[in-house]
Amino acid sequence: MALAHVGHEVQFVDLDTAKIEMLRSGRSPIHEPGVEDLLKINAHRLGFFEKIGEFVAEADIILIAVGTPPKANGKAETRFIEEAVIEVAKQLKDGAVYTLVVKSTVPIGTNRRVAELIGRTLRNQNTNAEVFVASNPEFLREGSALKDAFFPDRIIVGAEDPAAVDALQRLYRPFLEQTFDVPASIPRPEGFMLPPLITTDPTSAEVIKYAANAFLALKISFINEIAGLCEKVGADVVEVSRGIGLDPRIGPGFLNAGLGWGGSCFPKDTLALLAMGSEFGYEMPIVEASRVVNFKQRACIIKKLQHELKALRGRTVGVLGLAFKPGTDDVREAPALDVIRRLLDLGAHVRVHDPIALDNAHKALGDDPEIEYFNDPYKMAEGADAIVLATEWPMYKDLSLGRFSEIMRGRVFIDGRNVIDPGEAKAAGLQYVGVGR
Ligand code: UDX
Repeated sequence: MALAHVGHEVQFVDLDTAKIEMLRSGRSPIHEPGVEDLLKINAHRLGFFEKIGEFVAEADIILIAVGTPPKANGKAETRFIEEAVIEVAKQLKDGAVYTLVVKSTVPIGTNRRVAELIGRTLRNQNTNAEVFVASNPEFLREGSALKDAFFPDRIIVGAEDPAAVDALQRLYRPFLEQTFDVPASIPRPEGFMLPPLITTDPTSAEVIKYAANAFLALKISFINEIAGLCEKVGADVVEVSRGIGLDPRIGPGFLNAGLGWGGSCFPKDTLALLAMGSEFGYEMPIVEASRVVNFKQRACIIKKLQHELKALRGRTVGVLGLAFKPGTDDVREAPALDVIRRLLDLGAHVRVHDPIALDNAHKALGDDPEIEYFNDPYKMAEGADAIVLATEWPMYKDLSLGRFSEIMRGRVFIDGRNVIDPGEAKAAGLQYVGVGR
């Protein structure tokens, strides 16, 4: 969408016809701020297709951004990439020059495999086209995908051939030089600096993507580990985060202790990284520990509830927030869902609220009479023995804690993201329990 907005003709292909239908009618298949505005503004430069067709022959640059879900052994599945490459190859025409770009997060070595596969497929079908392959990992975050696309902090291009680098430089020039009309719904962040385009070899580009996600994941797990210590010694991890984050070598981002990470990237990418290491008999205990600590956080929340309520069987627990983070309706690997499943296992009744992820959560959790879904957080809290705040939606910061304490049956408020002021919660009559404070 951002590419179309800066002036490129963009043809999308997705085998999921429902997604393509939605996009054609101007709607976004996922909640992503600004997408629908851009679909409207740039409709004349956008096309949507259910399969790879002849139009590919006219393209200069072909971006592959299909999913690489984890297989049972933790390795990332690359079958969809290979299928896409073969379908693309069928359309390419003699004498033409293309740049084939791998944007998906792929196991190390995949770009080499793609280059080999495209070359072999073209030879087998006697097509005399020239195809340069480049790795161009994507760093955007869900919920701020367009902001991250328009205002990236860096663009990484891993390619063997300078022609591929040139093609991507042309593609991204409007972002590199910030020469596009900034969409009204996605303002340029204050103090934004022009991003560098970093060129490297394809294998290093592949590692950059995994290393970035693993580092962010372990930064969060690190502060969660410190949060556990803070609980023992009587310190406040929110203060500790602030104190260490001011050191520019550490930085303030990704230091919020709580229920830990979920989503479609960190869990999958840390697992894939470990699986890649194990192919060489190479252990990665730091990455492994980041996962252990992360998943322990979910169990910690249950322990806190048990500490306050004793047996959870027959108790009613309200859960605020289901999405894996605020700003998205994505519930993949959402810590909230894990907490809910554990509560159900322990015999609790669960009432849940989320501003936009209720439907997706319902689909993921299935019909269960022990889960009730609410559009209104106060209705959700009625008669609850305890509340768990699992996703830090901004609206939860403005909840009337006094009203909660009136309508709940119990008083326990577990702040799984440390967003509520403990003093205010206590003044409102709630038994406040944070993470690491
Ligand atoms: C991540 C990377 O940030 C992005 O660069 C990459 O391209 C894809 O993976 P995303 O999965 O959209 O993006 O979410 P992100 O904002 O990174 O948050 C991941 C998880 O970490 C969420 O569950 C969030 O709640 C959690 N988190 C984040 C914390 O628990 N504490 C923090 O301080 C920050």
